[in-house]
Amino acid sequence: MLYNRGMHAYTMTFVGGGHMASALIGGLIGSDVSPERVQVVDPSAERRELLATKWGISAHAALDETATQVDVLILAVKPQIMPEVLAQIRPHLSNDPCPMIISVASGINLHAIETALGPRPVVRTMPNTPALVGAGITALVSNEALEDTHRQWANDLMGRVGECVWLDDEADIDLVTAISGSGPAYFFALTEHLVTSAIQHGLSPTIAEQLAHQTAHGAGQMLKTREASAALLRQQVTSPGGTTEAALNVLNQNQFAQIVDEAVSAAQARSQALGAQNAEQPSKES
Ligand SMILES: NC(=O)c1ccc[n+]([C@@H]2O[C@H](COP(=O)([O-])OP(=O)(O)OC[C@H]3O[C@@H](n4cnc5c(N)ncnc54)[C@H](OP(=O)(O)O)[C@@H]3O)[C@@H](O)[C@H]2O)c1
Repeated sequence: MLYNRGMHAYTMTFVGGGHMASALIGGLIGSDVSPERVQVVDPSAERRELLATKWGISAHAALDETATQVDVLILAVKPQIMPEVLAQIRPHLSNDPCPMIISVASGINLHAIETALGPRPVVRTMPNTPALVGAGITALVSNEALEDTHRQWANDLMGRVGECVWLDDEADIDLVTAISGSGPAYFFALTEHLVTSAIQHGLSPTIAEQLAHQTAHGAGQMLKTREASAALLRQQVTSPGGTTEAALNVLNQNQFAQIVDEAVSAAQARSQALGAQNAEQPSKES
């Protein structure tokens, strides 16, 4: 059973109305999705008021039949409370495969969601923080129950805040987490060090920050066109014997590539460990 008014007008409820949900709701309503299609459930009266006033959507304190009679339920709560939230949702769902589930929670696997909510289409996603400014990238992976329509809905939803890539293998999520999930922080750290260095070498904090931030933005914009690889763009700004080469030589002498590789491995391993920890949680409670 579909609760929508057509293939392109799926209805949805966000469970959790925090940062990620707000970004997605902003992306939807900001691109002319009717507020009537969107509901949110959040225990905080302040958040409900804010979301309802800003976007004109209906906001509920707890899940009820109205909130669950939608095409898509989006799980946007912190991973640590997910077992509790899944248990709250279950009594409101029938055996009908609708609604499909889209989870943005890191470390909660497809199996845990299917086990808690019964057989239905489930998409697990790994968005990243730039989604908050509409420039995110989300990796998506699904269970076998997913049909083309569900895939289109998931793409449409996550596509409102950036790009989407689909994975064939859920195990790749840990590596994706290490690259694009944690990735923005690596670029922030590099920018932070550039600002510090500029100040230490004598520039004012204001000018140091403006130079470093706009340089990060400009480099990102050049990468975004994808007309050239990062390696080629780097080569193009590195004249033999020039200033850039002098700087890159220092990075290379200090094993820059190896440091990045080790950082990715550490993030991947941590993602695997947190996932395993979360996978144990529901079984402990059952
Ligand atoms: N923010 C990001 O950039 C980002 C990136 C990738 C993935 N994610 C994932 O997105 C998910 C949400 O992250 P977030 O940053 O949006 O977190 P957040 O801002 O803390 O939002 C979660 C919201 O859920 C509410 N909540 C708590 N219990 C609830 C319940 N039983 N039913 C409904 N809502 C409930 C929270 O209310 P209280 O605060 O009152 O508890 C809060 O408003 C997380 O699983 C995270 O892993 C986020």
